[in-house]
Amino acid sequence: MPLLLLLLLAAATVTVVMAADADPVDDFCVADLTSPIILNGLVCVNPATVNGSTFAFTGFENAGSTSNSLGSAVTPGFAGVNYPALNTQGLALARLDYAPGGLVPPHTHPRATEVLYLVKGQLFVGFVDTADKFYPAYLKAGDVYVFPRGLVHFQFNSGNTPAFAIAVLNSQNPGVQLIASALFGATPTIEDTVLAKAFGIPASEVDIIKKGFGA
Ligand SMILES: *[C@@H]1O[C@H](CO)[C@@H](O)[C@H](O)[C@H]1NC(C)=O
Repeated sequence: MPLLLLLLLAAATVTVVMAADADPVDDFCVADLTSPIILNGLVCVNPATVNGSTFAFTGFENAGSTSNSLGSAVTPGFAGVNYPALNTQGLALARLDYAPGGLVPPHTHPRATEVLYLVKGQLFVGFVDTADKFYPAYLKAGDVYVFPRGLVHFQFNSGNTPAFAIAVLNSQNPGVQLIASALFGATPTIEDTVLAKAFGIPASEVDIIKKGFGA
């Protein structure tokens, strides 16, 4: 009996560790983006008001504008933003556009693994594991790359033409922390002494970096 209990506990633990989001308990739960109720997920609309077009998404038809300092654009397809049918499905999507030399800077998704499919162009991508080992790769159109959950990663357009990719993440709310702005653009600002010591640079250089993030 204790052995059975142990096995059940082990199975339960594995389930908790492997799951990204909670399992749905209905066929679907199309998000009601107007509801003020806050819970772990989003309130559903009445399923009787839903039809086939509710599950279609047209937000990736056009490229995002890459006229910004990074030369990149992230267009979300998120349950809580513009794709309510993804609510409770454990998925979030993004269209990524990159000008030549454009960068999606180093960042992490604390709640999701990301799979990226490169539709057009070329990318230099990579992530860093918890032992600080770097895993770089050059991708061409048609290639796929996986960024393991929670690890720091980036994408850079290494080609001479615009690039475009679709990303799928296994959480409806993956979260994103951009490393540079999390540290140098935080509100309230993180003390220069802390950042100077962490990066081994003088406080004056910390200030220069902070200015780039409006801090
Ligand atoms: C689906 O529902 C939407 C909004 O309620 C409506 O505008 C649309 O005509 C419906 N489509 C079909 C195929 O019934």
